Parts: sequence; structure tokens; C-alpha cells
Amino acid sequence: MNTEKTFEKLFGELPTVVAQAPGRVNLIGEHVDFLDGFVLPFAISDHTLAAVRARKDSKINLASMQRNGEIFSTSIEDLAPGNKGDWERYALGVLWALGITQGVDLLIDGNVPLGAGLSSSAALECSVATAVNKLFNFRHSLEDLARICQRAENAYVGMPCGIMDQSVSLMSLAGHALLLDCRDLSTRHIPFDLASHGLELLVIDTQVHHALVDGGYAERRGDCEVVSEALGAKALRDVTMEQLLAHKNEFTPTQFVRARHGVSEMQRVREAVTALEKDDFVLFGDLINQTHASLRDDYTVSCPELDLGVEVAQRLGALGARMIGGGYGGSDIALIHAGESAKMIEAIRLAFKKENFREPRFFTALPSEGAKIISLA
Ligand code: GLA
Repeated sequence: MNTEKTFEKLFGELPTVVAQAPGRVNLIGEHVDFLDGFVLPFAISDHTLAAVRARKDSKINLASMQRNGEIFSTSIEDLAPGNKGDWERYALGVLWALGITQGVDLLIDGNVPLGAGLSSSAALECSVATAVNKLFNFRHSLEDLARICQRAENAYVGMPCGIMDQSVSLMSLAGHALLLDCRDLSTRHIPFDLASHGLELLVIDTQVHHALVDGGYAERRGDCEVVSEALGAKALRDVTMEQLLAHKNEFTPTQFVRARHGVSEMQRVREAVTALEKDDFVLFGDLINQTHASLRDDYTVSCPELDLGVEVAQRLGALGARMIGGGYGGSDIALIHAGESAKMIEAIRLAFKKENFREPRFFTALPSEGAKIISLA
């Protein structure tokens, strides 16, 4: 049954607005968005749909087709940061951050794999924000919507994420990666057409699910902030490798290696953009490999499954492979020659089986468009 029909069945009337927002793959620029860094993600074709209708009272009814369509009810007066709950907090957080003054019926549907490091949470937030922005004619810009969604996740859900996932979900162009300056949200769309270079991007979902709300993410972010503050910089973006090395002894070994990841990763993003502009996919792949090593050894957010996927892909001739997203599970990407995916998938499957790891899932990812309204009554 389609989303609108289900909405009518659940809430008695058709929705006024239906919007969609995609998940993402991040090519390079990992764990640097909250350091005011540059990142280079793209939107994938998998997306989340939000169908919404205004109510006459202050009630909020929320359901998801991926959760049996069970209705969760609350009201505007009860929206409060820190509220306990599950997936619904991401949607409610957005309603709270948007400051709605009228209740809504809201139905969520979609196909972004959950917990796979493909940003299903940002897709959910951005679909709701896009739909409700239209419904109440708030006229927020894409930059404002990204900040609103980030605030929902930071303050309402309690996950101190950066702004990459929300921005790429809202601002992407099909066929392009998004070079995003996380300091001012300015963007450049970088053509990313692998097919015409005989390449493709394989996503390896390890099926190990991460819980980002736990302490690891915040702790690492905190270490990087300690370093930039001590060096009198506004953010780690403003610290050079020379500066960091010169002050190495002022930090704990952990603070130092975490900051080293941040500073080196921001440098790699710059080099990766230059490589892409010259169609130098060998250099681009090499930078991706370096990012994995840095996330594994310095930032320590990888896990055995992610490392194994990367190792096998690299051994079989991938130009580059690395874990993506927050880490501790989720997905790897591998930049491979077109036509080699079957061989690659088989080898990774076998290697996982040998280690008694869960069977991974595989997708190919193509840069797709950002959030949009798909129906308006
Ligand atoms: C998660 C966060 C993002 C970003 C990545 C790591 O996806 O939501 O803001 O920090 O981790 O790059």
C-alpha cells in the first residue's frame, strides 16, 4: 500500500504534504564536521518519506510503516528535550526544534537501511523538517533546516552529532558529491560520475549495529576540542599539523592521536577534491585508504568486521576502501573497477563466514538528489 493510502487509513484523511529525504555515503572527511571541517559526502537513492497533515488541536500523532504503523500520540506541550523513547524522538525533536504551534498527524515510510552507517536518522529528520516547513509555510532555508535538524538530534535526542548528515540529505545534487564547509555551510557540488571512468562504489554493510548515543563519539569530539582550545584556536580546523606536533607533549597520548586524525583528515579532504577534479582516482583511492587507517589506529572507531571488509577489498584490488560514518559498526565503502563487484562480494562473504561474523549486505551507491516535496494537496 502506498504512503498516502496508509496515511488515510490511519488518520482518516489524506496527507497535505509528502516529502522525501535521502541517506548518505561519506566519501571522505570523517569525524571532522564538528571540528568546523570540510566533508565530501553524497546522498544515496534510498530515502525516508514523511507524510503530514495539520490538526486543529495540539495533538501529535506519529506512525511508521517500518514499525507496524502503530500510532504514537503526544502533544506539543509534552515535547521536551531529553524525553525517553526510540526512533520517534528524531521526528518529535524536529517538531520541537521547528517550534510548531499546531498539532500534526505524521506518517513515516522509507527504505534507508537502519543502523548501517548510512544516516537513516538524518533522513528521518530531514524528511520531517522538509514536509513540516512546507505544511506551515515556515520558509526556512536549507541551511536553517540543517541546523534545526542538528539541534533536534543534539538537544532532543542527546546525540552530539555534527552537521554533515543533515546538510547532505537536504542539499545534494544527483551525480555530484557535496563539498561542505561545516563552519558556514557553504557548498560546492563536485561531479562524481564513477561509471564513465569504469568504476563503481560498493557499500558493505557489516550488519553490526552501532549505538552512537553512547559515550565514544562525544568523548572523541571532546578530546579534539581540548586540543584546539589549548592551542587558542576557534576549532581544530584552524590548527596545522606543525602546530599540533610542536605542542605534542602538552596533551595526553589519546588527545594527541585523536587530534592527529582530525587535522590529517581535513588535509586529506582538500587533497581528495583536487584528485577528483583531475579525475585521479588512484590518488583518491589512496586517500580513502589512509582515512581508514587513521580512523582505525588514531581515532579508534573501527571494529573487526569493518577492518576485515576493508582488508579484503584492498587485497582484491579496490582503489580504496574504508569504514564510513560514526563507526563501531555500520558500513564500509570500496571504490572498485566496474564488473568486479561479484568477485569482491563473494570474497568478503567468505572471509566473514570464516570469522563467524554476521553475513554482510552489499549495495552499490550512486550520488542522488537531496530532499524534496513529492506531493502537495
Ligand atoms: C555521524 C554524525 C555526523 C558525523 C559522522 C562522522 O554520522 O551524525 O555528524 O560526525 O558520524 O563523520
